Amino acid sequence: PPTSRVSLTVNGTRRTATVDNRTSLLDLLREHFGLTGAKKGCNAGACGACTVLVDGHRVNSCLTLAVRLEGAEVTTIEGLAEGDRLHPLQQAFIDQDAFQCGYCTPGQIVSGVGCIKEGHTGSPEEIREWMSGNICRCGCYVKIVRAVEQTAG
Ligand code: FES
Repeated sequence: PPTSRVSLTVNGTRRTATVDNRTSLLDLLREHFGLTGAKKGCNAGACGACTVLVDGHRVNSCLTLAVRLEGAEVTTIEGLAEGDRLHPLQQAFIDQDAFQCGYCTPGQIVSGVGCIKEGHTGSPEEIREWMSGNICRCGCYVKIVRAVEQTAG
């Protein structure tokens, strides 16, 4: 199959790979770059477990073609903490006990960071609506919304 070379910035580091043109950003991150924080749930855009930021905006990385991202800036869950200091939303998830099994958590947190950046935190209902693409099978929604609220201040 046809391949392409793609260069992009991931969590502040320039990365390059040669990939099958059909490779998703999720597979690029997980299989080429060893960044397994973004999870493969449905692989079809329905669960949000694979959420990352591309140029500051939330995307489902399973639906995003890697070869389209030449020059893009990608942020994954691995890029949120600064050294030993957790991102405030990571800390808020711990404070609010906003997970059980944890599978959806990286996607929830990255999506929450996007939600805060985009300013959709006016009320719990607004947060819930803007986080609705992130499914939690353990049903931690109330605490997830509280964690986003805590961080948005
Ligand atoms: Fe991408 Fe479910 S794995 S939305």
